[in-house]
Amino acid sequence: MIWLIGCKGMLGTEVARQLTINKIDFAGTDIDVDITNPQALADFVKGKQITYIINCSAYTAVDKAESDADFAKKLNEDGPRNIANLANQIHAKMIHISTDYVFDGTGKTPYTEEMSIAPIGVYGKTKADGEAAVRQNLKEHYIIRTAWLYGWAGKNFVYTMIKAMNTYDSVKVVNDQKGSPTFAGDLADFIIKIIKIETVPYGTYHCTDIGEITWWDFTNEIKKQGVELGLITNKDCVVNPCTTDEYPTPARRPAYSVLSKDKIQKSLDITIPFWKDSLSTFLKSDLFDMERIK
Ligand SMILES: NC(=O)c1ccc[n+]([C@@H]2O[C@H](COP(=O)([O-])OP(=O)(O)OC[C@H]3O[C@@H](n4cnc5c(N)ncnc54)[C@H](OP(=O)(O)O)[C@@H]3O)[C@@H](O)[C@H]2O)c1
Repeated sequence: MIWLIGCKGMLGTEVARQLTINKIDFAGTDIDVDITNPQALADFVKGKQITYIINCSAYTAVDKAESDADFAKKLNEDGPRNIANLANQIHAKMIHISTDYVFDGTGKTPYTEEMSIAPIGVYGKTKADGEAAVRQNLKEHYIIRTAWLYGWAGKNFVYTMIKAMNTYDSVKVVNDQKGSPTFAGDLADFIIKIIKIETVPYGTYHCTDIGEITWWDFTNEIKKQGVELGLITNKDCVVNPCTTDEYPTPARRPAYSVLSKDKIQKSLDITIPFWKDSLSTFLKSDLFDMERIK
């Protein structure tokens, strides 16, 4: 049986949905089994035959983390260590999700898995330490770094921008940070492929959708597709570009965080979708949550 931790989060909800569609037996937990409590984790596995643990839980509030470092560390470093330790004891494999924020963003070409990490904020630092804790405690692990994630079941940039464009005459969006938007449906699909293939070598993998754009580019495409689909009724909303300096946030963000997908493409023998196509899948689905753009 698979144990999906963080099953109520944005990615976790999608992984749960796809495990169900694939008829893969799993048990999902979220805050009800606290990853910072080793005893709670150990109690949960008693009497169960867990072969894989997928960890989608995390502290994901990037800005809040700057003033909440102890709690971010508990969830992003101590929690993954506890899970990896337990996985080692019960001989389960672990899939752990990490982030592009482990890099400092000074690169100019896509980051490969071998490149040195150098996080520039608390969130990235705690996620990097969580990766290290998994590596140190469990050989049979997959660490999957993703970026700019959006999915049907969570607060995210796409929902936020559609709502903003329907509310205001203009929006200002940063145009000097480059990355790759990633649809949670695509990432969940790859996670399930790793489990099904069974022979993918353990280690660290980068996985985002294909494309290299700024948040401003992303917003323009959200507007274009959103208007076509009738999700954006305020067609005249102007999308203005701005610099990171003009839009200060508590946490610094990497200026360039495009991840190389070569390793995962070769290992899984897959074609990763282009970001515009995945955005279209997201917007056109019945699972698109209209309540989140009201
Ligand atoms: N979102 C992004 O743009 C992005 C980008 C790159 C990488 N990632 C990574 O992708 C993964 C999934 O992100 P996401 O956006 O799906 O996260 P999310 O929506 O914030 O989901 C995380 C889940 O973990 C739960 N959780 C919090 N504390 C817990 C605890 N002590 N024990 C058990 N569960 C707990 C949360 O519950 P509550 O909501 O009740 O706290 C939530 O349901 C994370 O590892 C994240 O770092 C995300």
